[in-house]
Amino acid sequence: MEKQEIRTFGRRHGKKLSARKLWLIENVLPNILPTSKEKNLILEIGFGAGEHLRTLALEHPNKTIIGAEPFVNGVAALLSAITDERNGILPQYKNIRIWPDDVRQILIDSQYLFEEIWILHPDPWPKARHEKRRLLQPDFIKLLLNRLAPSGQIIIGTDHWGYFDWIKEKATKSGLTFSEPDLHTIQTRYQRKNMAETNHPKYLIFEKPQI
Ligand SMILES: C[S@@+](CC[C@H](N)C(=O)[O-])C[C@H]1O[C@@H](n2cnc3c(N)ncnc32)[C@H](O)[C@@H]1O
Repeated sequence: MEKQEIRTFGRRHGKKLSARKLWLIENVLPNILPTSKEKNLILEIGFGAGEHLRTLALEHPNKTIIGAEPFVNGVAALLSAITDERNGILPQYKNIRIWPDDVRQILIDSQYLFEEIWILHPDPWPKARHEKRRLLQPDFIKLLLNRLAPSGQIIIGTDHWGYFDWIKEKATKSGLTFSEPDLHTIQTRYQRKNMAETNHPKYLIFEKPQI
């Protein structure tokens, strides 16, 4: 990343990691970082504890699922869930790669093209003075569109309806088009907290414009 981006995430560290999780971060994570050779790609941005990312991995055994998440405890939770008691990656999760940092680094520095890009419950940054920290600014959506394979889709879900409307308003003003499908994805850890106190998430899909 050339210029200093505004930080869109909160904490990098939560409570102290167990010895096993620390071991996984030091010894397993380096083996499943994304490489330039990955093909047939799906990206999940801000996977949290990785529940939805694991679902993607199971649903798409022939695709590589890259997850980006700078929150170390989230990365550790995912590593713990995809490894067995001998710390080997479970066979059904061998298609997972983890980027333990800001997704913008791999979007800007790499040549990846994704068939799907998922963002579930992006940090809402509800206070007006924090709005600039919201990830889904029009420029970021444009960057994602440039990283979509032909017929690819960006799928955004949030139960924070204020943020949802804000994304739509900003995108429309920037000339971006989208649909509002009635989707049902699995309930993630953040969604279970239901901090926004709404009764269901809303979804947006952005597609690569056909030339
Ligand atoms: C509110 S949490 C939701 C986590 C998860 N998707 C869920 O639904 O449980 C938003 C996540 O996005 C991550 N995030 C924020 N900015 C990011 C960025 N630039 N790159 C990658 N992840 C980011 C945060 O670290 C945080 O874990």
